[in-house]
Parts: sequence; structure tokens; C-alpha cells
Amino acid sequence: MASPASGILQTVTDHLRPVLTVLRRVRPIVVVGNNAMVTRADDVRAVLGDHEHFTVSHYAPKMAAASGPFILGLDDTELYRRDHAALRAAIRAEDVPALADATLAAARERVAAAGSRIDVVSQLADPVIDGVIAAYFGTPGPDTPTQLRWARDIFQDVFLNVGNGAVVHDRALAAASEMREHLDRLIAERRAQIEAGEDVADDVLTRLLRTPPEDGGLHDIAIRHNFLGLIAGWIPTVSKAFAMVVEELLRRPRELAGAQRAARDGDHELVAAYVFEALRFRPQTWALLRICGTEQVIAPGTRRATRIRAGARVLVATQSAMFDPRAVEAPGQFRVDRPWSTYLHFGDGLHTCFGLQINRVHLPALATALLEGAPIARLPGASGRLRTEGPYPTALGVALRP
Ligand code: HEM
Repeated sequence: MASPASGILQTVTDHLRPVLTVLRRVRPIVVVGNNAMVTRADDVRAVLGDHEHFTVSHYAPKMAAASGPFILGLDDTELYRRDHAALRAAIRAEDVPALADATLAAARERVAAAGSRIDVVSQLADPVIDGVIAAYFGTPGPDTPTQLRWARDIFQDVFLNVGNGAVVHDRALAAASEMREHLDRLIAERRAQIEAGEDVADDVLTRLLRTPPEDGGLHDIAIRHNFLGLIAGWIPTVSKAFAMVVEELLRRPRELAGAQRAARDGDHELVAAYVFEALRFRPQTWALLRICGTEQVIAPGTRRATRIRAGARVLVATQSAMFDPRAVEAPGQFRVDRPWSTYLHFGDGLHTCFGLQINRVHLPALATALLEGAPIARLPGASGRLRTEGPYPTALGVALRP
């Protein structure tokens, strides 16, 4: 069921682009009290590139309340670098092709089993994402609905609950408490198996446990914090992004037909180009948040130079930057030949999405399975409308053989 709040959110998102177009021209840096917003591509990239002065410290207390420190809430510290390196040693570039294959195989199974219609969120994206993570990380949830609920509740509090609403915060604490216990158990069981010399899967959990802290590895508790953050950062983002991509393509018959041709031809690069261009028009998030650490001037030496107070919240309008004609050619056109550098879907600078390379194949693989068959169409009536619960898409019905 779509809540009234989510309806309002969607309306705001739908009408944001024209507002941001005007702002980019007449007031590219907006300051209202202790809040600021940057809308031009140059300024968006400059703020995201200056992690020393525009910090992510606001995420830290909520991650700490959920489990403990996680890289996205850490500024460029020793702890950030250690955890980032330990995760990179376990979540490797060479795993990406196998993740693409696993996603495509699982998504094809779902599409084949669905018959003549499929809900692209609840029957396709959510179970496939959950299954891929469970096998790759080695940390399955008790079941898919529970894992989705934990991830969504925690993500909403850490990243979206800007006003610190108590209901959202309490729900996240309850989810995190269940998830911590569950992860602690999985970590302890796997550690015991490794110590007993049993055969264990070569998944991310095993890799992390096999690297001792003195060799750059993580303590078990830090492994838990990071799994909690990674799972919460993976499920809701990919699920929403996929729903947004399908919704955008369904509204564009020509592009949908082009994406289906590319999928049938097995042209993964071209499917990916359709996916990430569709996401520019209907992004997973339209902005990121930073806190100004010490007083700063944004765009110094220009006519728009603006002083930002220490402690101000700065909304970094990434979608607006992807429509800035100073940086993006013919931004109103849907094009599949744009350079990758056009896109800010995964942020920029120090905190660029850790899953960037995974996303570049994971989302297109989901799309390929949906698009490679006969022409798809939106289901008639309510089932064919994108429905949301809170900030998350939860349903969008598509006919597979109309
Ligand atoms: C379509 C899916 C995804 C989208 C749109 C997305 C988006 C983003 C964005 C915009 C950021 C930067 C946040 C900021 O600067 O405030 C980010 C950071 C991050 N993402 Fe993703 N993400 C996705 C999937 C994933 C996946 C699959 C993983 C795990 C493998 C992941 C893990 C992370 C982590 C750990 C960070 C923090 C990196 C750091 O601080 O160095 N994300 N993501």
C-alpha cells in the first residue's frame, strides 16, 4: 500500500527536475538558514570531492546505534582506510563477472517461473538480490522478507531520516538488534567451522575470517558492522534503482523496444547504457547529504561564490548535475552513447559507492532477464502502477506475453 507520505515524496520527485533547472540558472547555490543546496555539476563534484570540509559525520551516530562504525559514516581516518582495504581484499574486482552470471541465472529462473506476468519488485528484483547476496557474502537472512525488512528499516534511518523521526529510528534499532544477533551467530558458526578445519565456501565471510587483524583483517565485531552496513546498502538501493529503471522504460516505448532488442542480442553493454540512462531520468536518489565541517566558500572566485557556515547541512543535488547543460550534452535527450563520467548515480570522491563495479553488471543482468523475451507491457489497472511503502518501491506489475 502506498502511504500518503510516499505519494507526496513521489510527487516531489516527479516535479523536482523543472525546479532544479530553474535553480541552476537563477540561484545555483541556495542557502536557507542552516541548510544549503548545490545544483550545478561543477559545485556538486567540488563538494563531493572535498571530503575534508564536507563530511559524512552525520551518518556515524546512526550506524553506531545500529551496530558500529561503517565506512560510509567515517571520514578519511585510519579506521576508514583499514576497513575499506579489508573489505576490498574480500570483495574483489575479479568476482564481478560471476556476480553478473549469478544474477542473470537467478533472474531468468524467476521470469521463467512467473508465466505471463511478473511483479518486477517483489517477484524479481527483491528475491534475486537477496539470493545473490546470501551466496556471495555467505550471510543469508532467516528468509527473504526478514532480510528485506532489516535492510530497509536500517537504510531508511541512516540515510533518509534526516529529521531524526522517532518512529523510523526505533524501527531501525529493533531491526538492527535482530540482525546483529543473526549475523553474530553466522560469524561464530563459520569461525568454528574454519577452526575445525572443515570445508567451507570461498565467500566473503570466509575471506574476512581467514585474514587476521594483524594482517589487515577485521575483528569479528567489525566484520558484523560491515556486513550490516553492506547488506543495508545493497538491497534497498538496487531494488529501488531497478524499479525506477523499469518504470522509466515503460513510459518510453521507443527506448523500451531498443532495450529489449539489445537484451535479445545479448549486448550487455547496450542494455547497461539503457539502464543507467533511464536511471538519470528517474534516479535512486536525487541528492546526497554532507555537513560543512568548517566555514567554506563554494565556487570561490565566481559570481555565484557562496559562504557556507560550519555545521550547515548541504544537499548535493546529483540528479541536477546530471542535467546540467554545462556538463552534459543535450541533457533532456535519452541517449545510450553517453560517457560513463556523465553519471553520478554512485556518488563521487572518497565515498563513491563501494559496489560501483558490481552495480554496473548486477542491474543490467536483472534487466536482461526481464527484457530478452517477447515485448513487455505495463499491466492494466492498479497492478501496473509503481507502488511504494515509505521510501521504497514494493510493486510494479508487468505483462510478459501481452
Ligand atoms: C543501484 C545500487 C546502488 C546505488 C544507487 C548506490 C549508491 C551509492 C551512493 C550514491 C553512494 C555515496 C553516498 C554518499 O556519498 O553519501 C554509495 C556509497 C556506498 N555504497 Fe552504494 N549504491 C548501490 C549499491 C551498492 C552495493 C551493491 C553495495 C555493496 C556491495 C554498496 C555499498 C556502498 C558502500 C559501502 C558505500 C560507502 C563507500 C565509502 O564510504 O567509501 N552500494 N552508494
